[in-house]
Amino acid sequence: MKMQLMTRFIGVPINRVDGIQKATGSAKYAYEYPVEGVAYVLPVQSTIAKGKISAIDASAAQALPGVITVLSHENAPRIAHLPNTELEVFQTDGVAYYGQFVAAVVAETLEIAQQAAELVVVRYEELPHHVELRADDKALYKPPSVNEGHDVSDTFEGDVEGALASAAVSLDQTYTTPTEHNNPLEAHASIAIWENDGLTLYDSNQGPHGIQGTIATAFSLPPERVHIVTQYVGGGFGSKLFAHPPIILTAMAAQMTKRPVKFALTRQQMFSQTGYRTPTIQRIRLGADTNGYLTAIAHDVIEQTSTSYEFAEQVGVVTRRMYAAPNRRTTHRVARLDMPVPTYMRGPGECPGMFALESAMDEMAIACGIDPIELRIRNEPKIDPETGHPFSSRGLIACLREGARRFGWQQRDPSPRAQQKGRWLIGTGVASSTYPAYYFPAAATVQVDHKGMYQVHIDATDIGTGARTALTQIAADVLEASLEQVQLVIGNSDQPAAGFAGGSSGTGSWGWAIFNAASALRTKLREECGGVIPAEGLSANGKFDANPALQRFAIHSFGAQFAEVHVNMDTGEIRVPRLLGVFAAGNIINPKTAHSQLMGGMTWGLSMALHEASILDPRFGNYVNSDFAGYHISTNPDVHTIDVAWIEEDDPHVNPLGTKGVGEIGIVGTAAAIANAAYHATGIRVRDLPITLDKFL
Ligand code: MOS
Repeated sequence: MKMQLMTRFIGVPINRVDGIQKATGSAKYAYEYPVEGVAYVLPVQSTIAKGKISAIDASAAQALPGVITVLSHENAPRIAHLPNTELEVFQTDGVAYYGQFVAAVVAETLEIAQQAAELVVVRYEELPHHVELRADDKALYKPPSVNEGHDVSDTFEGDVEGALASAAVSLDQTYTTPTEHNNPLEAHASIAIWENDGLTLYDSNQGPHGIQGTIATAFSLPPERVHIVTQYVGGGFGSKLFAHPPIILTAMAAQMTKRPVKFALTRQQMFSQTGYRTPTIQRIRLGADTNGYLTAIAHDVIEQTSTSYEFAEQVGVVTRRMYAAPNRRTTHRVARLDMPVPTYMRGPGECPGMFALESAMDEMAIACGIDPIELRIRNEPKIDPETGHPFSSRGLIACLREGARRFGWQQRDPSPRAQQKGRWLIGTGVASSTYPAYYFPAAATVQVDHKGMYQVHIDATDIGTGARTALTQIAADVLEASLEQVQLVIGNSDQPAAGFAGGSSGTGSWGWAIFNAASALRTKLREECGGVIPAEGLSANGKFDANPALQRFAIHSFGAQFAEVHVNMDTGEIRVPRLLGVFAAGNIINPKTAHSQLMGGMTWGLSMALHEASILDPRFGNYVNSDFAGYHISTNPDVHTIDVAWIEEDDPHVNPLGTKGVGEIGIVGTAAAIANAAYHATGIRVRDLPITLDKFL
């Protein structure tokens, strides 16, 4: 299905088309739109995890000069029922998690709102709560019933128990990952303006059309009367895919006060209001013959969800397709806790799942006495074990081999504690990486004016990835125009519908719709206008509804992650001086922005390996480290050499552009490579993230 295209810009590392606007501050983010007469809303948040509001005394707050109103369930407008009841702000007196909005102040200034919010007194009838995901709380776990489009039902094939019992080499280990919070640089923010019976929201999100749908439902408006404007976004990583309570609050406050209202979350508010990555408890069982050929693979996942909505992350799904084995099993169990609704966070599913699977593969390689790269090569499936389809392309082995060459893997002594420099133990590790290629329906319109200037309209979002740039390159190549002739008009729900900036789907999906629209314009120009642009200009639409290749092929990106780790013998401090990632992700539209995406993912993988964990206080159900002082992410001193490479992969099946996506695969497998290297350095296997120094002492 790949098209022949004369490429002048695709494949070229051009600078971001919006680089100057972003670097000089002229790019407008949601909170920055000047709005006359704007008021400020600030929430009061619950201090219990479960129960009922018994009384609210807002009199002191209400009396403060500059306070416009105080909202709560007692006076808030009614909104429609939503599948995720977390979004039903102020609709009942119930409390479902710590930090839930229980009241809000709208005031003339942010400072007055802050002072007034402190004066609101809320009393509760508290109920006993369950907030902690624990391996021994089996009564709480249930098989998931719904989820966001991933099949997390149990899968069984063959006789796993029998194969494990008779395996020459077997492994049965449990790996855990903690709660982690998406922390985009730009906090979630909205400005709400009601006028002419419609609602405009300047909002920081990953997909205006999705937000438009949720807001339209909540406020019982036809979708076309809801306008979501999302020009620039400072990161999202999953936390801005779906609407969260703050946007509902902002729209509600504006509706009630008949004023434009704005709200930007604080970092602390994000820890209860914008989703998080579920903690996981993952049991992996592997059986192999003496040559390291797997006979059984089982991946059983326990994770958390909320009472407000069942979001079940697809943690074990990756195991269904990674390696061949005749006997296979994956299960997910979710505990409905009195906690906020978890959500997607970069590399959802694959990221935590591959920490467990790729740690286990390393342990298995050691148990079999086989090099970990060789073990993976031996267990390469010929077809996708899950669907039975051939892979459209599968570059795992090529990535492992190329990575081994670049990393200098051949010189490695496999025994632990073999290398030491001063008081530092040195080790190296490897892990596989993978991420599915998603293609979401999209539509685009391309216009040309009589001067030959093109506008491409599509409701795509550039959340900082460089999508605007890559899409401009695609359009320019199809139109045979210069980059300067092409203007992207994106980030607005008034534009033709497109899927969100998520699942690494953007370039492949939006790019495909743009490809079709631009091709249609060229055809129209040639066939209807004899190649001459009419005085009034010309436009054409293009779209795609589903990727037919997914009916015939398993389509995934693959990669190999290598890490060098130093662990101090006296203090247990762990350093990662070197990371290498080699990926096979189809056609790379812009090597510069793709490199940044992959490097960003690997940097985050390093962060996941060494630092990130949201620490729960089970007495209250809150996180005690809900800011950058307490929630550590890797920063410049943590990052040394990160080498990013990819192999040429010409996949003719996936879409007209041959792209598979690079946004998330960079984080997948990094933490396992680091844990495997830490074992190689020290002989200590850390199965619980993050890998902090106490685990070596
Ligand atoms: Mo990504 S976690 O699909 O925004």
